[in-house]
Amino acid sequence: MKKYTEKTIDFYNKNIDAYTKSGAIVLKNKIDRFIKLLRGKKILDVASGPGHDTDYLTRKGFDCLGIDLSEKMIKYAEENYEGKFELMDFFNLKLKENSFNGIWCSSAFIHAGKKDLDKILTDFSKILKKEGILGIIIPTKQKREKRKNDKRIFTMLNKVELEKLLIKNGFKILFSEDFFYGKMKWVFIISEKNKGGR
Ligand SMILES: C[S@@+](CC[C@H](N)C(=O)[O-])C[C@H]1O[C@@H](n2cnc3c(N)ncnc32)[C@H](O)[C@@H]1O
Repeated sequence: MKKYTEKTIDFYNKNIDAYTKSGAIVLKNKIDRFIKLLRGKKILDVASGPGHDTDYLTRKGFDCLGIDLSEKMIKYAEENYEGKFELMDFFNLKLKENSFNGIWCSSAFIHAGKKDLDKILTDFSKILKKEGILGIIIPTKQKREKRKNDKRIFTMLNKVELEKLLIKNGFKILFSEDFFYGKMKWVFIISEKNKGGR
């Protein structure tokens, strides 16, 4: 496991109560836009956290697997939500190639170093089926209040940077927007594998 991942996971294991109270929110209009574009039922929810999005997708009839590296998050998800959950590092995906119709990735890229994002996208591309759909939500670049004892890695990209990164890795941008939620500004991008460029 990467050193920065260790610190990030330690934070979530210790702060799961706070996260489940404030962070376990399904952004329905975003996730619904993503599922409308899927050509099949198999979805991977990357860094599923408490499990709320996997639960939503499972109840909608999708075959969704939520993965997260925090044991506490996975335990919470299994005890409280519908769906399948597995402890897994998104840097070391133990999943079959060409097996998912969609990857949902909400607030996960923030916990990867900028130079490591290409590897994640290459791996996503491998496990996605042809014309598989990738939905990403990340906080856009902004000032962040650093809390005491918070040693999480926090990478923020703006919309154009994320679009460029996706295109460079062979994804076609299908939908892209900035939006406000809570006190923060976010980016939501839906892209498609194997089309190359806009
Ligand atoms: C901000 S939470 C997002 C949770 C959920 N997707 C959501 O949108 O609310 C980030 C999650 O990423 C997980 N995480 C961080 N690094 C990871 C890694 N390398 N592999 C798998 N999960 C990771 C953390 O355990 C945490 O649950």
